[in-house]
Amino acid sequence: MKVVEVKDLKEANEKVYEVFCNQLKEKKNSVLGLATGSSPIHLYELLSKNKELDFSEVITFNLDEYALLDKNHPQSYYYFMHKHLFSNINVQSHHIHIPSGVLKPQEACDEYNDLLNQYTIDLQLLGMGSNGHIGFNEPGTSFDSITHFIELDESTRKDNARLFFNNNLDEVPTHAITMGIANIMKAKKIVLIACGANKAKALQKVIQGSVTIDIPASILQKHPDCTIYADQEALQLLK
Ligand code: GLP
Repeated sequence: MKVVEVKDLKEANEKVYEVFCNQLKEKKNSVLGLATGSSPIHLYELLSKNKELDFSEVITFNLDEYALLDKNHPQSYYYFMHKHLFSNINVQSHHIHIPSGVLKPQEACDEYNDLLNQYTIDLQLLGMGSNGHIGFNEPGTSFDSITHFIELDESTRKDNARLFFNNNLDEVPTHAITMGIANIMKAKKIVLIACGANKAKALQKVIQGSVTIDIPASILQKHPDCTIYADQEALQLLK
């Protein structure tokens, strides 16, 4: 696992943007694994602005979706992705994959896993929860997990209430569907953005601790091509 220290979230996004541009240059029909959350918003802005980038053959897979939020709900990840990226680029709608939050959970998981099994993700983008989650794989999730239905941790719901739901915890869904850790680890290349002091505790364990299901992102130590882009605030507890 490689760690690149950046000045701030903006620089992390700029560096990851370069990785995305190189990936698209190398392979027009790249399979991209995409993330939501506040961390990659600037990356999506940069990708949206560069009209020379061609997404016509690109296939995308999003990590997760809230359960029971309709596509058109402003906090659904479907809505987020279309607003920040998909509506601004020439990706084909049938190349976009996001787990369904409204199908019966088992059906939604099976459908997504079947799709994922047909592709290999070339480049997987990740953010990280303050508890070390990736996607919505909360602490305790098996490293062998594939797409599954999960109950969100209270801390995750609080984080997301603050960032996206006007601090209204009652509005944050209690469950989600997420790509599993085994799905994520199959990606050829992984980039993770972790900035801000609220990521420091988990990030120290991710980088210097043992690989444990208590800190889901610690599994990335075992990935052959994973780079973490983190700022000083997130790296402050490194020993
Ligand atoms: C959310 C998402 C994750 C995201 C993480 C970090 O709950 N499910 O995919 O990476 O939390 O969010 P943020 O980037 O806003 O800190």
